[in-house]
Amino acid sequence: MATDVFTKRTVDLLTGLRDSGQYKEFLTLSSPLGATAAVEGRGEVLVLCSNNYLGLADHPEVVAAGIEGLEQFGAGTASVRFICGTLSCHRQIEETIARFVGTERSLTYVSCWNANEALISTVAGERDVLISDELNHASIIDGCRLARKTARDIYRHSDLAVLEAKLKEHADREVRWVITDGVFSMEGDVAKLPELVEICRRYNAILIVDDSHGIGVLGKTGRGTPEHCGLFGQIDILTGTLGKALGGAAGGYVAAAPHVIELLEQRSRPSLFSNALPATVACSARKAIEIVEREPERVAKLHANVRRMREGLAALGFDLHDSPTAIIPIMIGDAAEAIKKSRRLMELGVMVIAFGYPVVPQGQARLRVQVSAALEEHHIARALDAFGKL
Ligand SMILES: Cc1ncc(COP(=O)(O)O)c(C=O)c1O
Repeated sequence: MATDVFTKRTVDLLTGLRDSGQYKEFLTLSSPLGATAAVEGRGEVLVLCSNNYLGLADHPEVVAAGIEGLEQFGAGTASVRFICGTLSCHRQIEETIARFVGTERSLTYVSCWNANEALISTVAGERDVLISDELNHASIIDGCRLARKTARDIYRHSDLAVLEAKLKEHADREVRWVITDGVFSMEGDVAKLPELVEICRRYNAILIVDDSHGIGVLGKTGRGTPEHCGLFGQIDILTGTLGKALGGAAGGYVAAAPHVIELLEQRSRPSLFSNALPATVACSARKAIEIVEREPERVAKLHANVRRMREGLAALGFDLHDSPTAIIPIMIGDAAEAIKKSRRLMELGVMVIAFGYPVVPQGQARLRVQVSAALEEHHIARALDAFGKL
């Protein structure tokens, strides 16, 4: 029977993962996420693996705003946006996002995964081409896959000469779409936005930047990779998450000119066929953005923590790429070895996750250290002490 085949295949895969030390154990937290968190069976550990870059996930005002949202609007609308699923708090968060990232309008989705899939598959026409950086996030890759009738191409990571050659090659396409992460999630490097903007203008291409790891993190006021690169308000289309620096709950957005947003409202499948962002998240994420606007010193603290952590790890002999982002990968190579090191760090009370295939290519397993503004000097000292012992 076919089910037997499936069961055997699955058991073999899972056994293989266990035997080779690559099986992912899921830790269970029993507290909010701050600089530390309570992990079941481990006690209080230092968190160096979360995207809670600005430490807003447990901020009292963010939590209170979520509760107020729940009380004012209820658990949800039991509807998609165009039926009866658009609440005033959706419009408010969308205005707030647009103001924060420097576009005329924005539209929210339940995640940035959803936003990327919605955007790419909706805007791409049959006579267009999608040209994507090879290290783009999986949601961009899947978004491109969904655009089945559109030609697709990939350029070597941040290689502008290759991108330019591809733009020339696809000169006859109706629209050329270039898609990049603002900050690459596994490498922690920043996209070469000034050059990308210049090339896209020269070849009349439209640039899409997913700034999920840049928003709240890069730029003096946390407005993301465009601000960091002196290009605030100059990117054609931005996507991003509300599930990292901006409150950490969930939610994603597309920020762009009004005609792009109207097209998505009218045509994007996740918007037409799936429920809207819950009111709790719309309200808590809006409060998170307001706090970032009000307290740019949070962003400055994050930047100082990033510098301190990078300097400390480099002084211990770890080989790091220079980058201003809050993502610091430590290359290990072998996945089992990376997982072993991550377990050892956990024993030392520091939560750092190992990433292996299929999240990163085979043989390029790594530990990914992530820095937060929630960390105080003594937390960083504790982390560096653990890395010293490692
Ligand atoms: C670059 C990038 N885009 C999109 C996402 C997905 O974000 P969300 O959790 O909101 O779906 C992530 C999450 O890891 C990401 O790193």
